[in-house]
Amino acid sequence: MNQFTLKDNAQPPAGRQISIALVALLASLAGLLFGLDIGVISGATDLIKAEFATTDRHIENIVSSMMFGAAIGALGCGWASSALGRNRCLIVSAIIFILSAFGCAFAYSVMQLMFWRFILGIAVGIASTTAPLYIAEIAPEEKRGAMISSYQLMITIGIFVAFLSDTLFGTSGINHAWRWMLGIIAIPAALFLLGVLVLPNSPRWLVMKGRSKEAYNILLQLRSGNTEIARQEVADIEEQIKKPQHGLSLFVSNANFRRSVGLGIVLQIVQQFTGMNVVMYYAPRIFEAMGYTGDAKLWFTALVGLVNVAATFIAIGVVDRLGRKPTLYIGFCVMAFGLGIVSYLMRNDVITDPTLQYLCVCMLLVFIVGFAMSAGPLIWTICSEIQPLKGRDFGIAASTVTNWVANFIVGNTFLTLLNNLGSSKTFLLYAALNILFIIFTFCFVPETSGVTLEKIESNLMEGKPLRKIGR
Ligand code: BGC
Repeated sequence: MNQFTLKDNAQPPAGRQISIALVALLASLAGLLFGLDIGVISGATDLIKAEFATTDRHIENIVSSMMFGAAIGALGCGWASSALGRNRCLIVSAIIFILSAFGCAFAYSVMQLMFWRFILGIAVGIASTTAPLYIAEIAPEEKRGAMISSYQLMITIGIFVAFLSDTLFGTSGINHAWRWMLGIIAIPAALFLLGVLVLPNSPRWLVMKGRSKEAYNILLQLRSGNTEIARQEVADIEEQIKKPQHGLSLFVSNANFRRSVGLGIVLQIVQQFTGMNVVMYYAPRIFEAMGYTGDAKLWFTALVGLVNVAATFIAIGVVDRLGRKPTLYIGFCVMAFGLGIVSYLMRNDVITDPTLQYLCVCMLLVFIVGFAMSAGPLIWTICSEIQPLKGRDFGIAASTVTNWVANFIVGNTFLTLLNNLGSSKTFLLYAALNILFIIFTFCFVPETSGVTLEKIESNLMEGKPLRKIGR
């Protein structure tokens, strides 16, 4: 029964209907910002290194301080999004996005740049955790999947736009181009702020705070004034929140839950150790190691971003038809193959034959396709599918924080590996890890496509081996 009274013919006030497309726009902007901030640093590192006459170790710290901030942002976000509300969290993150874009653009020392990248990371951590949660809570059931995958797609579009903008600034001959690259992000961040300011509270959060009447009014506006649907959704939410989340105590008391949390954590480590972000953060440096200099390495980086976007469509197209595990197998094989050939071609570090140079670029693109069609979107999906309802928030938070920590480690070690092992052995190492992940997928990853979340949960709790908790 609803805990509030309504007139059966209650209608939203005229002109107060909220288009669900506006919610989609928010989704796009949060994902876009996330992607922009991942991508933007790659084109700037050479210029920063020259301006501050600094070392590769400092560059690694500048790059990865953002991921460190993101881990902390994601960690604090569970508490903040429940205490302050989802949209206030997004407003806070938008303000931090704007401030830190200016902070980075006007940094005059390595330490300052590291500090502002860290602050920027906190915004990324908050937005990357809150936005999908908010969208899932506000979108109608039948549009939920599509809205979450469009969010993933927007991340890759953000990365591409950042690569392109870096290329345009980097080839323009403008002074202090890196400051423009990092500062320009204040513009989409300001648009994001305007967007989140007009958006309504999450109905689920309102019900959790005992404000069911307000939740009903918002749902009425979001569901084209359909009183029946709005009333039912409020009743459903009230029913659901009667089963409170006990993530931590479940984790301590239940070994089966510890298994699913462990799997989520390892899956995110796997995603990062494919080596994808090595290319996202250091692509121009990689093209330099292939023998390209000047503008070419920036244009190739933009191409990497474009291929990443295009291949994400493959994942959207095949994942439900092929299933999660076959798609992951193909992805890891393609990644291992691409990086294996890159490693082989780079045995003498700089390649002098133009044909082999092109081949090397193509193989790096093959690697990108492998990631974007598989581990990129799929790991996020599986991590949200394997957790039992009572511990879902805890399980997803644990794997998301791990994603950022692993991301930090990868970003913070690549140049050191390159300088110590050389490019060929570094890529060989990542190729070998991808082969290892095929075995990991076979042994531990369940096939979750076409299986209800309830079935996965009951299999897990019955103690079935992890790879058998799905189909
Ligand atoms: C990963 C990010 C990565 C992006 C690249 C995401 O799924 O979590 O770390 O930068 O894909 O497209």
